[in-house]
Amino acid sequence: MEAVLNYPVIIVHGGAWYIRDRDVEGHTAGCREAALVGWELLKGGAPAVDAVEAAVRVLEDNPAYDAGRGSYLNSAGRVQLDAIVMDGRTLDFGAVAAVERIRNPVSLARLVMERSEHRFVVGAGAEALAESYGVPLCDPDDLLGRINEGSWSPPRYRIVTDPTAEGGLIHAAVDPPDLTVVQGAGDTVGAVALDVSERLAVATSTGGTPDKWPGRVGDSPLVGCGAYADDTAGAAAATGVGEALMRIVTSKTAVDMMAEGLAAQEAADAVIGKLWERVRGYGGVILIDRRGRVGLAHNTPNLAYAYVLPGQSVVAGVARETRISAPGRAEGLAAVRGLDGRGRVTAD
Ligand code: GLY
Repeated sequence: MEAVLNYPVIIVHGGAWYIRDRDVEGHTAGCREAALVGWELLKGGAPAVDAVEAAVRVLEDNPAYDAGRGSYLNSAGRVQLDAIVMDGRTLDFGAVAAVERIRNPVSLARLVMERSEHRFVVGAGAEALAESYGVPLCDPDDLLGRINEGSWSPPRYRIVTDPTAEGGLIHAAVDPPDLTVVQGAGDTVGAVALDVSERLAVATSTGGTPDKWPGRVGDSPLVGCGAYADDTAGAAAATGVGEALMRIVTSKTAVDMMAEGLAAQEAADAVIGKLWERVRGYGGVILIDRRGRVGLAHNTPNLAYAYVLPGQSVVAGVARETRISAPGRAEGLAAVRGLDGRGRVTAD
C-alpha cells in the first residue's frame, strides 16, 4: 500500500450554492475557524472523528450556514435538521434526521453511533434518545439564527422534475431561472479529517433545502450519500441538492473512485462530473484520500471551504464556478492548486 504523504489533514465546507459577495468574508471566516478547531484537536493526537465533530459543531453554531442555527425553514415554517458521523476505521456511523430541538445534531449522530444499538434515528424518537443521553433539547426558535440575524429572505428555489428529460431528471431550479437571485443561500456543512494514526472520519450536517416538505430528508444523513469514510480508500462529504446527490450515492461513489486509484482531486472532479452527466444534479464534494491529499469540486455557483495540511497555514475561501450547468473543475481548485508532482497539495 502506498505511504501516507500528509497527516494530520482536515478539510471543511460551508455548502455548495450561491454566496453573495457581501457574505463571502463571513462564509470564509466560518470555515477557517471550523478547520482550525478540528486541526488543533488533530495536532494534539485526537482521533479524526473528534475533529470532524468539533469542526461541524462550529459550523452548526454559525448562522451563515444551513445547518444547526441558521437552517432554512421548511414549508411549515419549522427547522428540521439532519446529520451523520462516520468512522473510516470501523465503517461505523450514526445518523439523525428531521430533529427540531437539537442544537448540534452532529453530536447526537455521534452518540447514536457510539451509544445506541441503532444507527439511524429520526424525529421525535431521536429527540427522546438525546434526552435519555442527557442532551438538553433546545427551543426550536434557538435555531432561527438566519432570521434573527436579519439576513434571511425566502429563496425562490424549488426542486423540479423535467419530464421531457431522459429519466425524468431532477435538478434545482429557481424562479426566475437565475441562480444568482437566491438570497442568503448557504448550504449543508461538512468536515473530513485524517488523524495522526492514519484514521479517516467524516461528518455532515444540514437544515436541508429551503421550503422543503415537512419530513423531507435529503442526502446528508444517508450513509454513502452525504458522507462516507473508509480508511482503506478515502473519505468524502457532499453538499447540494439531495434529491440528485442520493441518486448517484455521491460520497460512496467518490470513495470508490479513490479506492480504484484516483487522487482526491481527480475523484472530486469525476464525481461532480457524474452528478451532472447522470442526473443533471448540482452539488459539491470535499475529499481526503488515504495518502492525505485533499480535493474539492462543485458545479454550483460557489463552495465555501477551508483546509489545513501539516506544516502549512490554513487555506480558506469561497470557490466560484462561472460555468453553471457545466460539470467539472471549479475555480476553487485553484485553491488546491499546485499538486507538487508527488501528489501533495501546496498551499499559500
Ligand atoms: N444536501 C442537503 C439536502 O439536500 O438536504
